Amino acid sequence: MNGPRPPRIDKLDVQELFTTPVWIIDLASDEHVPLNRALKAEIERLLTPRPKIPLGANWQTEQTLHEQSAFRPLRDLADMAAKGAMRWLGLENHPLVITGCWANINPPGAHHPRHSHPNNYLSGVYYVQAGPGSAEIVLSDPRPQSFVIMPGPKQFTARTANSRAIDSKDGRLVLFPSWLQHHVVSNQSQVERISIAFNFMIPNYTETASAPMWKGNVKATSS
Ligand SMILES: [Fe+2]
Repeated sequence: MNGPRPPRIDKLDVQELFTTPVWIIDLASDEHVPLNRALKAEIERLLTPRPKIPLGANWQTEQTLHEQSAFRPLRDLADMAAKGAMRWLGLENHPLVITGCWANINPPGAHHPRHSHPNNYLSGVYYVQAGPGSAEIVLSDPRPQSFVIMPGPKQFTARTANSRAIDSKDGRLVLFPSWLQHHVVSNQSQVERISIAFNFMIPNYTETASAPMWKGNVKATSS
C-alpha cells in the first residue's frame, strides 16, 4: 500500500538569519613575539610594585592604555581590526574610536565571570601571554530561548550549541559585538594569562546616527 505522494518542490532553502560575527586575527609569530615582549614589559612596569591579590581574582590596569605611547602598536592593530570589521559589516561610513583599553592579568586559578561591555559597539581582546591551558574565552548565545530546551545532538555544532569557546593564544586578537556576553574560564596553567581588552564606539553617536531611520511621507499641502 503506497502512502500519499510527496509534493514536488521547486526549491528547498534554509537561511541562517541574524548571525553574530566574531573576528579572529592571528598575527604571524615574527610579528607577535617582539610585540608581546614589549607589551609585557610595559604591563609589568605598570603593575610594579604588585599588590597582593586574593586567590582566584584577576588584576586590571587603568583603562587608558590607548593614550600611552608604549601601547601604540597595539592600538594600531585594534584600529585596523575594527576598521576591517566595519567594512565587512558594510558600516565603513561610521568611524570608530577606542573608548577604553586595559590589561588583564589572570594568575593560575583566576577566572573572569560573564559580562558584556555596555555603551560600546565593538569590543575585543588581544593575547600577550596565553599559552595552552591558560583559559579560553567563552562567548554565550545571545538568544535566551536557546537555554530553555537543549536536546542533545550527536555532536554540538554552531547550530545547536549555545556557547562557543575560542582558544586564547599568543598574538591572537578576537573582536565581537560589545553586547555579546562572554566569560573566561579559570586559568589551568602555571603561567599568568595576560591580555589587553579594548572597546570601540561610534563618536558623536547622537549627532551622526541616532536620528529616526524613517522619513515622514506626509507632505503638508496648502489649499
Ligand atoms: Fe570582556
